[in-house]
Amino acid sequence: MACLRSKKGSPVLRGAESSVHVGRFAVVEADRETDDPQPRRVRGGAPMITESESGARNVRRPALTFKVRRRGLSPKRQAEFDQWILDWSIPMEGPLLDWAEVFPRLDGDPRDPARGVVLDIGFGHGESTIQMAHAQPELDVIGVEVHDPGVVTVLDAIVNDPLPHVRVMHGDTIPFLDRIPPSSLRIIRIYFPDPWKKQRQHHRRLVRSDVVTALVDRLEPGGELHLATDIADYAELMEQVCDAEPRLTGGIIPRPESRPLTRFEQRGLDEGRPPTDLVYHRII
Ligand SMILES: C[S@@+](CC[C@H](N)C(=O)[O-])C[C@H]1O[C@@H](n2cnc3c(N)ncnc32)[C@H](O)[C@@H]1O
Repeated sequence: MACLRSKKGSPVLRGAESSVHVGRFAVVEADRETDDPQPRRVRGGAPMITESESGARNVRRPALTFKVRRRGLSPKRQAEFDQWILDWSIPMEGPLLDWAEVFPRLDGDPRDPARGVVLDIGFGHGESTIQMAHAQPELDVIGVEVHDPGVVTVLDAIVNDPLPHVRVMHGDTIPFLDRIPPSSLRIIRIYFPDPWKKQRQHHRRLVRSDVVTALVDRLEPGGELHLATDIADYAELMEQVCDAEPRLTGGIIPRPESRPLTRFEQRGLDEGRPPTDLVYHRII
């Protein structure tokens, strides 16, 4: 395994870890929680960062940040999924994306390069993705989610609401980052990432320094990283990780009314866990 040093002095692994993909474009790596064979595990430890062809960094992690579930769709829904995913999704693997190609204007005119692109990571059932896309038609949106029921809900909204400025990536965000050009995202949203509450599961948390480094590489200068969680120690971790990233400034904010209430957030409120929102901006 080739081992280099990143800018911050963290170990840089090249070609060492196989990416974990899910969905129609990738291979599922199994997890003990699903009764499947045991994957390799890395507990906490040093960030694993590689440089992608674009120069932006990416993360190689053997641990999944989501739970593998196998809830099927009805035959009718599956047929819709199979059609819509071809029409409205972005494959996980491929060359660097060009927003003008991903979001062509329906009238054939060139896309306005001033339009911002939002990356909405782990949209769950898609409530906030859909509502915010309606509220902000001036922003193009890429929603990323692993689980089929939420993916088909957002695809349905793209087709039938319609929301022509929204696309879906069905799979794991981490390897998909390789396709996102540096400094090209206006907003990154991570709302209520899987909490992985037990200490021994913390290495699965999505918000950690190597992931944040890779995300900030892809934020425009001035771009926004908006995080929300109802897990107190995860909020502390988010704050620590973002405060330690020299290109970010920001912190905890009052819950913004613009962020829709989802069933995940409602469940937390019902169980006595109010949310914490954090907003950071890329300053350099
Ligand atoms: C607790 S849910 C929250 C959903 C939604 N953001 C909300 O606020 O209602 C977290 C979601 O993140 C997804 N997720 C976790 N890791 C992911 C990853 N690496 N790529 C894409 N989705 C991921 C999970 O599948 C899950 O649906």
